[in-house]
Amino acid sequence: MSRVTGADLPELTPEERAHSDKLLALIRREIEEQSGWMSFARFMEMALYEPGLGYYTAGASKLGGDGDFVTAPELSPLFSRCVANQCADVLWALGGGDILEVGAGTGLMAADMLNELQTLDQLPGHYLILEVSADLRQRQIATLSARAPKHLKRVTWVDALPAARRGVIVANEVLDALPVERFRIRSGRINALGVNWQTTGLAWTEAPAAAELEDKVRAIERQIGSELPEGYTSEVNLRLDPWLHSVAKVLKAGAMFFIDYGLPRAQYYRPERHDGTLLCHFRQRFHSDPFINVGLQDIGAWVDFTAAAEAATDAGLEVAGFTTQAHFLMGLGIEQHLKSAGERELVERLSLARQAMLLTLPGEMGERFKVLGLSRGVKQPLRGFAIRDLAASL
Ligand SMILES: C[S@@+](CC[C@H](N)C(=O)[O-])C[C@H]1O[C@@H](n2cnc3c(N)ncnc32)[C@H](O)[C@@H]1O
Repeated sequence: MSRVTGADLPELTPEERAHSDKLLALIRREIEEQSGWMSFARFMEMALYEPGLGYYTAGASKLGGDGDFVTAPELSPLFSRCVANQCADVLWALGGGDILEVGAGTGLMAADMLNELQTLDQLPGHYLILEVSADLRQRQIATLSARAPKHLKRVTWVDALPAARRGVIVANEVLDALPVERFRIRSGRINALGVNWQTTGLAWTEAPAAAELEDKVRAIERQIGSELPEGYTSEVNLRLDPWLHSVAKVLKAGAMFFIDYGLPRAQYYRPERHDGTLLCHFRQRFHSDPFINVGLQDIGAWVDFTAAAEAATDAGLEVAGFTTQAHFLMGLGIEQHLKSAGERELVERLSLARQAMLLTLPGEMGERFKVLGLSRGVKQPLRGFAIRDLAASL
């Protein structure tokens, strides 16, 4: 995957252009109704989730080699096998329970996890999937029907967070897809970066931040021990705290694992990261301009894992561990999974070895991606954090 500028992105087909223009017209209308201002979080919400038109809610192929980006479960079944091993430990400690996967993408992780959990003799009572995209829900049904048909009866799709239960909650690359606010430091004050409409199309616009955003940024400055410099631009996720509080209510006892690209707060808001963390994906290329190909490209922001841990502890959960994806997968035996592929064809073994490298190498997904483990009522240490636990950095 390569970083590009807008000019280097592949051309849109006339149908894609028409689709994007339809969504832009809706966004423009809402901006005009609000006297020329839309918060960035609202823009991101419309670009990703506007019914029938947003990136996740319309029919773009999105994930996988023929889509816009490849997530860890799309890259290799080794990832889901390791996560399943961690879930199995928790289910065993609880004496059984359910799994809830939030934002299940194409359904590959669910299928690979259920197959591995069967091998481990730790199938959950129910495997629930909370998915906001009707299009992806259809793909999940197709994937599970093809790859794990005997487990389909355990899988239930839910439209909202389910009632409290014992078990495990997993979400891979979901926190980064929650809409964020952007801000910029101007003459010592905090401005919100919003979106308006000019003759050339969507454009950034600044206004003094509302109290909630201002308070959050000031709190960040106090926690990192210095004022952010003039012109510093970054993101804050104001929805993370209420969202995690709601998710926490689902877990009577058990653990949750959030896997995403992100950093502890002190690193997230370092001076050198002065232009924020927005990351847009379009056909295996990435860049940082959310106003290009609106509705056709993914938009995400790095996760402030300190904020996630604070919200979770405030909601009564414990931080069970925080580590890099590489250390998490190594703690859960990725090497053994590779070795056990020993009898397979050479080509397949080589392919798995390459996948393991991409999942764990520092320059690939190994360090950029982190895993935050949260628990309630589970006392035994979790294997994923046994090799290296960075929770003290949060
Ligand atoms: C980047 S994709 C990751 C998909 C999958 N977990 C994977 O790793 O391949 C983000 C997923 O989260 C879903 N999603 C985003 N916000 C959500 C929310 N608030 N609740 C449930 N699903 C959500 C999207 O529809 C999509 O399935």
